[in-house]
Amino acid sequence: MRIALIGYGKMGKEIEQQALEKDVQVTARFDSKNSDISKATHDFDVAVHFAAPGPVVRHVEACARAKKNMVIGTTGWTKDMGKVWSIVQDQDIGLVHATNFSVGVNIFFQMIKHSAKSFDRFVEYDVFVQETHHKDKADSPSGTALTIAEILMQRIKRKKELLNTPPTGRIKPEQLHVSSTRAGSVIGAHSVIFDSSADSIELTHNAKNRSGFALGALLAAEWVHGKQGIFTMEDVLSDVIP
Ligand SMILES: NC(=O)c1ccc[n+]([C@@H]2O[C@H](COP(=O)([O-])OP(=O)(O)OC[C@H]3O[C@@H](n4cnc5c(N)ncnc54)[C@H](OP(=O)(O)O)[C@@H]3O)[C@@H](O)[C@H]2O)c1
Repeated sequence: MRIALIGYGKMGKEIEQQALEKDVQVTARFDSKNSDISKATHDFDVAVHFAAPGPVVRHVEACARAKKNMVIGTTGWTKDMGKVWSIVQDQDIGLVHATNFSVGVNIFFQMIKHSAKSFDRFVEYDVFVQETHHKDKADSPSGTALTIAEILMQRIKRKKELLNTPPTGRIKPEQLHVSSTRAGSVIGAHSVIFDSSADSIELTHNAKNRSGFALGALLAAEWVHGKQGIFTMEDVLSDVIP
């Protein structure tokens, strides 16, 4: 399979490194100075997007016109999702999107789903989320923390509202507090804490490097090749982990 890397920064280079070890050829690379994808669509089968949120719609349009499937790992473009979904559906291409492509994180999500379901019936337990990333991260809270918050609020009925700014006083019981720290060179750390006066249970995922994201993105690119529709990493993994 031939892939194009849209975004050739930290993630693009990590994906290229791992592609070398698999039967995947990187045949096109785009960055902010060379971003006209329409000129090179004959060169690849699937585009893997780890770039910036601003040009996502334009890049999806260019790939869709050429009937090229995509994997999008770029974060911070939720406001454009409606536009992207209609382009993908109108042009019958395939897209896998995820705020976190790490296989470990996606299994971590499954663990959170299971725990949240159990704690839903025990009002004695409060729940909160903490995340830490390197000082250069553009978005806050992280896309992964927002996904975790969504998972929790869908399963713990007493948590109805996301609080992701520093509280100015007592927080309301229905608020789910998600706190973010930006410091140093931390690749990505996420914790979900279920806390009561009796005990505290903490689930933590620590990314040690970017290789887990790259592995998942390549797995998704191979999986989506030849498919049509909008998918998440959960769909990809449910084929691998029934
Ligand atoms: N979903 C996940 O699992 C996951 C994991 C890690 C990161 N991410 C996300 O992936 C994105 C990239 O992360 P990164 O760490 O690789 O960032 P990075 O090191 O800053 O690299 C960004 C790359 O995107 C390029 N770019 C910027 N504007 C572009 C445009 N208009 N057209 C084409 N390329 C463009 C940059 O080009 P220049 O070099 O010319 O500036 C650079 O090559 C971020 O949104 C990040 O949050 C997602």
